[in-house]
Amino acid sequence: MKKTILTGIRPTGNLHLGHYFGATKSWVKLQDEYECFFEVADVQALTDNFNNPEKIRKNVYELTIDLLSVGIDPHKAHLFIQSKIPEIAELTIFYSNLVTMARLYRNPTVKTEIAQKKTLFGNDGESVTYGFVGYPISQAADITALGGTIVPVGEDQLPLIEQCREIVRKFNTIYGVTLQEPEYLLSKTPRIKGLDGKDKMGKSLGNALYLNDDSETVTKKIMNAITDPNKIKKDDPANPEICMVYYYHQLIENPNLETVYTECKAGSRGCVACKKELITKIEQFLTPIRQKRKYYEDHQDEVINILNQGTEEARIRAQETMKQVKASMKIDY
Ligand code: TRP
Ligand code: SF4
Repeated sequence: MKKTILTGIRPTGNLHLGHYFGATKSWVKLQDEYECFFEVADVQALTDNFNNPEKIRKNVYELTIDLLSVGIDPHKAHLFIQSKIPEIAELTIFYSNLVTMARLYRNPTVKTEIAQKKTLFGNDGESVTYGFVGYPISQAADITALGGTIVPVGEDQLPLIEQCREIVRKFNTIYGVTLQEPEYLLSKTPRIKGLDGKDKMGKSLGNALYLNDDSETVTKKIMNAITDPNKIKKDDPANPEICMVYYYHQLIENPNLETVYTECKAGSRGCVACKKELITKIEQFLTPIRQKRKYYEDHQDEVINILNQGTEEARIRAQETMKQVKASMKIDY
């Protein structure tokens, strides 16, 4: 029996290189070794986008197309929509009794996100909803409903996996051993820097390169990427270690990497030429992804079928879990 992987992603926008190198690239490999469930976490996305349902709906399809374009294979993995698994919502309610408010507020991920909202909206946190503070509970339900024992995540998600493990332990202690504690699988490149040199590539930071950016946009973004600020003239020697263009040459695995490094150090490489080389490499990387995207954009029915099929498969799992959960909780009337 293959071990089960469960991981999810919020459909709030298109995938960018940060998602790709930080997460989905490794998902493509994992599908060969594990039984993989990849969740389009629309319910979770609604916790802080509840007033923008059109955005989430549109991005469920956009994200699915992105995932299929980078190589998530519906014959190997199950791609499913969270809201179509009512067992997850049901399990969330049962788990709610096992988590104190204090523990939720202490979750470092939630804490950081609430702090960000306070600076964004300038309020005292009064507008933070019950659903938002409680999303770690619903994420624990995602993982355990599907019987996920391995959860690939970035570092920022570790407190959520820890909280899931606590819930499972508490459930098993009170109701008898029913659920399995999941383990995390930490992404090797958890945080990808933005083109502007910021620590993280993010949609809200405006420094992202999207997998569905067209050639013109890619060129413009790379041409504006931050290089070594001390390099003024074309033949000044520079430090590639602090240059975002070099950073992306590395990520994209340019076979010419050593030359980029030594020429930059020696001052025999101009930044414009260096950026143009990176653009070529990124275009090569994006070409097959764009072709697949085009195919799925032209075959929307197929996308919907893939989601329906994956969701059906996921639901069977969730129903099995629910049966055991209800028996343990003595509510299997
Ligand atoms: N919280 C995750 C994120 O923002 C997305 C997610 C939803 C998830 N459900 C999950 C991750 C279950 C791992 C397991 O990226
Ligand atoms: Fe960066 Fe290339 Fe310029 Fe060096 S030559 S600073 S690596 S863009």
